[in-house]
Amino acid sequence: MTVVGVLNVAVAMLLFVSLAGCDILPGRARARAQRDTPQAQTAAFHALYDQQCAGCHGRDGRLGAARPLNDPVYLALVPSERVRHVIAQGLPGTAQPAFALSAGGSLTDEQIESLVQGLQASWSRPDVLRGDGVPPYAAPLGDPERGSIVFAAACANCHGAHGGGGPKARSIVDPSYLALVSDQHLRTTVIAGRADLGMPDWRGQIPGRALSPADISNVVAWLVTKRTPVPGRSGGS
Ligand code: HEC
Ligand code: HEC
Repeated sequence: MTVVGVLNVAVAMLLFVSLAGCDILPGRARARAQRDTPQAQTAAFHALYDQQCAGCHGRDGRLGAARPLNDPVYLALVPSERVRHVIAQGLPGTAQPAFALSAGGSLTDEQIESLVQGLQASWSRPDVLRGDGVPPYAAPLGDPERGSIVFAAACANCHGAHGGGGPKARSIVDPSYLALVSDQHLRTTVIAGRADLGMPDWRGQIPGRALSPADISNVVAWLVTKRTPVPGRSGGS
């Protein structure tokens, strides 16, 4: 064989190898490409949501016993890291189960990630805050005395003068209700409202004025005093 001949054979072999290379993992590569399309991701999210979450958080993410997740204000408020943690580890002392295999649940890390991403991809809306800064998702409890003043201005209209139920909304000081929910749930509700049931978010509770971060921490502290009466205090008035 001439030198050129040898080179030709080498080039032909290289071509063969590289073409074959494309075909060595065709099934897998294609399955992965299909699984990664936005449509497939959305379908996977909805299937998981329907099976694992809809029973409590509502069909289509609304009108369940637990808060709506199909809520762009909530999705702009909550850090993804927190959503991942809640799904994986659950919220002890509440009805929120732990789903991670490592915590005794039935979802892989990949499935949990699909839920975390899918909530944002399917149900968030970038313009929902209209430029308003969202209050911090988490913060320490504030001052309950001041909180009672916030309650009178922002909540009593609907929930009644002392929170025991009013014309537009039920009691939120019932000990059996408060025993089932965390402080963070109360805070999340004050900030994001319950759009599905007609409770406005923190911007719409006092006409023309959004609650400040201090108002929010204070009114949550007031509600928390209704759960566990502090000895030596009147119970928050
Ligand atoms: C415009 C009326 C309105 C205002 C103002 C309002 N709420 Fe509500 N709230 C509702 C409605 C409606 C619900 C749904 C439950 C029901 O039907 O009573 C609700 C539900 C709640 C819940 C239960 C949520 C859950 O899913 O566990 C809490 C806690 C709550 N509100 C706290 C507050 C606090 C605190 C304020 C004031 C900072 C406030 N709300 C202001 C109407 C209102
Ligand atoms: C058995 C009922 C139940 C199921 C099933 C359930 N949740 Fe929940 N979830 C709750 C309750 C109740 C809370 C509020 C707990 C509290 O008091 O903080 C909650 C809270 C949450 C929160 C935090 C809300 C906040 O305040 O920021 C997220 C996020 C959440 N759930 C996501 C999910 C997802 C995603 C699924 C499905 C994988 C799911 N949940 C399944 C009942 C449930």
